[in-house]
Formats: sequence, structure tokens, C-alpha cells
Amino acid sequence: MEKLMERPFNLKHCLSVFLLFFAFVIHAQDDVEDAYGSYVPEEVVNADAANGKNLFNSLCAACHKPYRDGVGPKLHGVTERRDMDWLYKWIVNSQELIKSGDSQAVQLYEEWNKVAMNAFPQLSNDDINDILAYVEIPQKVKKEDDSVAASGGGSESGGGGISTEIVLGLLAIVLLVLSVILYLVNKTLNRFAEANGIPVRADKPKGKPIWVAFAENQFLVLVSVVFLLLAVAWGGYGYLMQVGIDQGYEPIQPIHYSHRIHSGENQIECKYCHSSARVSKHSGIPSLNVCMNCHKQIAEVSEETATEDYSKEFYDNEIQKLYAATGWDEATQSYTGETKPVKWVRIHNLPDFAYFNHAQHVSVAGIECQECHGPVEEMEIMYQHSPLTMGWCINCHRETNIKVEGNAYYEKIHEELSKKYDVDKLTAAEMGGLECGKCHY
Ligand code: HEC
Ligand code: HEC
Ligand code: HEC
Ligand code: HEC
Ligand code: HEC
Ligand code: HEC
Repeated sequence: MEKLMERPFNLKHCLSVFLLFFAFVIHAQDDVEDAYGSYVPEEVVNADAANGKNLFNSLCAACHKPYRDGVGPKLHGVTERRDMDWLYKWIVNSQELIKSGDSQAVQLYEEWNKVAMNAFPQLSNDDINDILAYVEIPQKVKKEDDSVAASGGGSESGGGGISTEIVLGLLAIVLLVLSVILYLVNKTLNRFAEANGIPVRADKPKGKPIWVAFAENQFLVLVSVVFLLLAVAWGGYGYLMQVGIDQGYEPIQPIHYSHRIHSGENQIECKYCHSSARVSKHSGIPSLNVCMNCHKQIAEVSEETATEDYSKEFYDNEIQKLYAATGWDEATQSYTGETKPVKWVRIHNLPDFAYFNHAQHVSVAGIECQECHGPVEEMEIMYQHSPLTMGWCINCHRETNIKVEGNAYYEKIHEELSKKYDVDKLTAAEMGGLECGKCHY
């Protein structure tokens, strides 16, 4: 053993490389957990945020938003303000806690104009941990976190692609196996040399500083360099690829508006609400007056509309929010004049330096909304289906043929081009759809 430790490539070095590797892999897996603020307690960090999302949406979303105040206070950061025991008691039965004279509870109740929060005796401490795990996800991370988004809206963005953790894990295993093989080869060769009386480098002075031993060991240096290069490439690639991509982005809206119910079950046409898509650059979000065309009559959803995740009470309450926003008084069937603006959170958003025109694509090219926005009629909560990157635009321009028939302008160009290049079809690309200036001001 003594001798073994002195050989240029020994077990100790071997181990240190792997510790480095595994530290890296484990670090990658902890990313989401790391993203939590340092104040978030352990039991919340380890809870199931996906389950928490479902509970939150069905029980709490009517009054709370994670990142801003609604009927009740914003819940993000609540584990910093309050301790866990207080939270368990408050959420299960806030009124009881207020009656018990708890000073924090009484003060909060007064601050929020004595609006009573419902009691939730059905929630266990674990359920509450889950809900808190969901609301404590930093806003920035939530956008990117598919695992949470997927459980609610059926986001398709996660499809395909092996996760980086798996790739890194495999890489570490491959290198581990490689090093073990090299170590064994080295050992056998040394033994062989000894048996044949060839001197092995046993004359090395003892107690060499580790970095000298490291620098002398070409294999270790090589492995480290390769590893560093890979790490830099991976990090750089990841950073570049995330620029501007919000695919799957699914924010919580001020009113839970379901495209599934309106466009799917009730077959309301897209253009009834997004009327400008055909004629202008923007397709716009409808004003609440458009909603009230129908909702003066529709104050409730039918029993069949409710799902496992969203109860009839939940939906009815959302329609009440629409009434509150437009100042509609059901009792007198008239407007009170007291309105509250509803600020829809914008989901699709190209950077300012890119130009996109709906009319060009919908009316001129005749492309269906779903080709770019995905199965909207199945979306309970709207999310961004396509990446909206430059590559995405360009790919489609390369692949899509322009409708030549019935367009005198294109028919003429087509005729000339087919004489010149002998092409059958005209793609958007051939029409100038790859020119920088068409999409960039
Ligand atoms: C009917 C509306 C309503 C619902 C539903 C509701 N809350 Fe509340 N919540 C409030 C109000 C209002 C307050 C502010 C205190 C008060 O007035 O009682 C509050 C306060 C809180 C607080 C304390 C926040 C702080 O800043 O300390 C927590 C935590 C909380 N709610 C969690 C939840 C959770 C979790 C759910 C779902 C299981 C939920 N609430 C459902 C209305 C509601
Ligand atoms: C009854 C009205 C209505 C109908 C019908 C409707 N929408 Fe919407 N749409 C909305 C409202 C309200 C929003 C904003 C809230 C949200 O994002 O869920 C919205 C948001 C969107 C967004 C996201 C906008 C953004 O912020 O980037 C897209 C894309 C969209 N709708 C596409 C469609 C398509 C495609 C159809 C037809 C299949 C359709 N909508 C039918 C009302 C409607
Ligand atoms: C063309 C008629 C029509 C228009 C316009 C319309 N709705 Fe609805 N809405 C309905 C119908 C039908 C239902 C479902 C009733 C049922 O299932 O029993 C509904 C249900 C709802 C619900 C409960 C289900 C859910 O989606 O959460 C809300 C909230 C709602 N509408 C909001 C809106 C808003 C906001 C607008 C405007 C952007 C709007 N509606 C425009 C017909 C309409
Ligand atoms: C060729 C792809 C494509 C098609 C087809 C398409 N959209 Fe879009 N849509 C986009 C892009 C890209 C954006 C982001 C635009 C921006 O940020 O300027 C967008 C944004 C939106 C928005 C957000 C508000 C706005 O105007 O920026 C709505 C609503 C919308 N689309 C609805 C529709 C509807 C309804 C249809 C069908 C009639 C449709 N879209 C067809 C690509 C498309
Ligand atoms: C689903 C396919 C598809 C996608 C995705 C798409 N386009 Fe297009 N685009 C077309 C087609 C087809 C045309 C040709 C329309 C015509 O003039 O007949 C076109 C035309 C254009 C034009 C006009 C080009 C010209 O020659 O005048 C611009 C600008 C444009 N697209 C921008 C964009 C941008 C920006 C995006 C991405 C945000 C995008 N498109 C995504 C299919 C697509
Ligand atoms: C069909 C439309 C289209 C054409 C043609 C196009 N771009 Fe883009 N470009 C975009 C869109 C959309 C984005 C925004 C992508 C995003 O946010 O990820 C973009 C982003 C960019 C960016 C910012 C980097 C990035 O990825 O965010 C640069 C630089 C750029 N384009 C340069 C060019 C150049 C140079 C050309 C000509 C060779 C060109 N573009 C042609 C649509 C186009």
C-alpha cells in the first residue's frame, strides 16, 4: 500500500477527481431547490410544489396571487414573515386564531379590512408545505420550471431532449469507468515491471505538495482540462439558449379565463375576441365589454363544466370577479359605474427589435392560429406553445409554400421565377422571408 501511494497515478488522485465530478452533478440537480430564498424552511423546500400548485389553484387562487396582492396578501415570502406553526394554524382556521387573540393574526385581519379567509380543515401540514413550496418559487424560476407548469396546463414544452442532469450523470460514470480502467492498467504494468526488475518510479521524494503531484500527472491534467472545457461549453450554451425563450410560460391571470371552456366546449371563434388578428399587426386581448355581451346572462357555469382541478364554485367566483371589474350589479341588472381595470399578464412577447405581423400570417398566408399557438381549445390556462425564436420563424419560412393561386402579384413572380430557376413552388423564404430587414427594424 505504501508503495502504491507513491505511484504517479494513485487512488487518492482518482478519488478527488470523482468527488469533483459528483459535486458538480449534485449541484446541477439542486438547482431548483437552490433557487428558493434562503429563508424558506427545509420542509417547504423539500415539499411537492406540483401538488401545491393544484391545491393553490383550486382553494386559494380566488383570493391570493403568489406575487402580488389580491383579495388577500401576496403569498410569496410568507415563510419569511411568519413561522411555520403559525402558518399551519392560520391556514387551517384563521378565524379561530384571531379569536384566540394572537397578536399577529389580529393585526393582519385589521390590515385587510376584516375580510375573513375561509377555513381549510381538510389540509394536512404536508398539504400546506406543498402549497407554500409552490408560492415560494421565485417568479423568475417559475417561468422556466416545466415540471410545475406541466401539471397544470399540460405544457408540451418539456417534450424531447434529455435533461442535463442525466447527461452529466452519464458523463461522470463514463469518466469513472475510464479512470478505473486506467488505474488497473497502471497497476498491472507496475507489477509487471517490478517482476522483471525494471525500476518503478519509487524514488520520488515523499510529501510533495499536491499541486506539484497534480501538475506532473499528465492524465489528471488532461481530464481536468477536458472537464473544464465541457463545463464552460455547457454553461455557455445553456446561457445562450435561454435568451428570450419563455416557451411554456404560464402566468397566473387576474381572472381565471379558460380557453378550453370558451373555445373548446362552447366553440366560440377566436376572432370573436381576438378580432384584430386578421387585419392588424396585433391580435390584442378583448376588452371586458366583449365578455359582458355574454356574461350579463351567464353568471354561473353548469355542473358539467367543473373538473377535478376546478370546482363549479371556483368558476362562479371567477365570473363574480368579472362583474366586480365591470361594475355589473346582478341584482339590478345594471352597471354601478364602479370599475376596476383588469391587467392581463402578457404571455407572448417578442423583443422590440423584432417585427411580427398577424395579418400577414393569418389573412395573407392563411395559417391557422393553432399552428403557432398550439391546441388553444384544450388550454385551461393559456401558455406559450412555440419558442418564438428567430430559428423558429426562419424554419417555417423555409418550409412553407406561399399560396400562389388567386394572388395576381405572386402568380406573376412565380411565373418568372419558375422560368429562371425551374422551381415548382414558392416558399416564404424565397419571397424574402429570410431577409434581416423584414423582421428587424
Ligand atoms: C376568500 C378569500 C381567501 C381564500 C380563498 C384564501 N385566503 Fe388566505 N387570506 C385572505 C385574506 C383576506 C387574508 C388577510 C387576512 C384576513 O383578512 O383574514 C389572508 C391571509 C392569508 C395568509 C397570511 C398572509 C400573511 O401575509 O401573513 C396566508 C398564509 C394565507 N392567507 C394562505 C392561504 C392559503 C394557503 C389559502 C388556500 C388554501 C388561502 N389563504 C385561501 C383571503 C383568502
Ligand atoms: C371569449 C373570448 C376569447 C376567445 C373566444 C379566445 N380568446 Fe384568446 N384570450 C382571451 C383572453 C381574455 C386572453 C387573456 C387571458 C389569458 O391569457 O388567458 C386571451 C389570450 C390569448 C393568447 C395569449 C395572449 C398573450 O398574452 O400572449 C393567445 C395566443 C390566444 N388567446 C389565442 C386564442 C386562440 C387561438 C383562440 C381560438 C382558438 C382564442 N384565443 C379564443 C379571450 C379569448
Ligand atoms: C360568446 C359568449 C361568451 C363570451 C364573449 C365570453 N364568455 Fe365567458 N363563458 C361563456 C360560457 C358559455 C361559459 C361557460 C358556461 C358553462 O359552462 O355553463 C363561460 C364561462 C366563463 C367563466 C367561468 C369558466 C372560466 O373560464 O373560468 C369565466 C371566468 C368567464 N367565462 C370569463 C369570461 C371573460 C373574462 C370573457 C371576456 C374576455 C368572457 N368570459 C367572454 C360565454 C362567453
Ligand atoms: C405564424 C405564427 C402565428 C399565427 C398563425 C398566429 N399567431 Fe398569434 N402570435 C404569434 C407571435 C409571434 C406573437 C407575439 C407577437 C409580439 O410579441 O409582437 C403572437 C401574439 C398573439 C397574441 C398576444 C397579443 C398580440 O397581439 O401580440 C394573441 C392574442 C394572439 N397571438 C392570438 C392569435 C390568434 C387568435 C391567431 C389566429 C387568428 C393567431 N394569434 C395566429 C404568432 C402567431
Ligand atoms: C407557421 C409558419 C410561419 C411561422 C412560424 C412564421 N412565419 Fe412569417 N411567414 C410565413 C409565410 C407562409 C409567409 C408568407 C406570407 C405571404 O406573404 O404570403 C410569411 C411572411 C412573413 C413576413 C413577410 C415577408 C415578406 O416577404 O414580406 C414577415 C416579416 C414574417 N413572416 C415574419 C415572421 C416572424 C418575425 C416570425 C417569428 C416570430 C414568423 N414570421 C413566423 C410563415 C410563418
Ligand atoms: C423571419 C424573421 C427573421 C429574420 C428573417 C431574421 N430574424 Fe433575427 N430575430 C428574429 C426574431 C423573432 C428574434 C427574437 C428571438 C428571441 O427573442 O429569441 C431575432 C433575434 C435576432 C438577434 C438577437 C439574438 C437572439 O437570438 O436573441 C440577432 C442578432 C438577429 N436576430 C440577427 C438577424 C440577422 C443578422 C438576420 C439576417 C441574416 C436576421 N436576424 C433575420 C426574427 C428574424
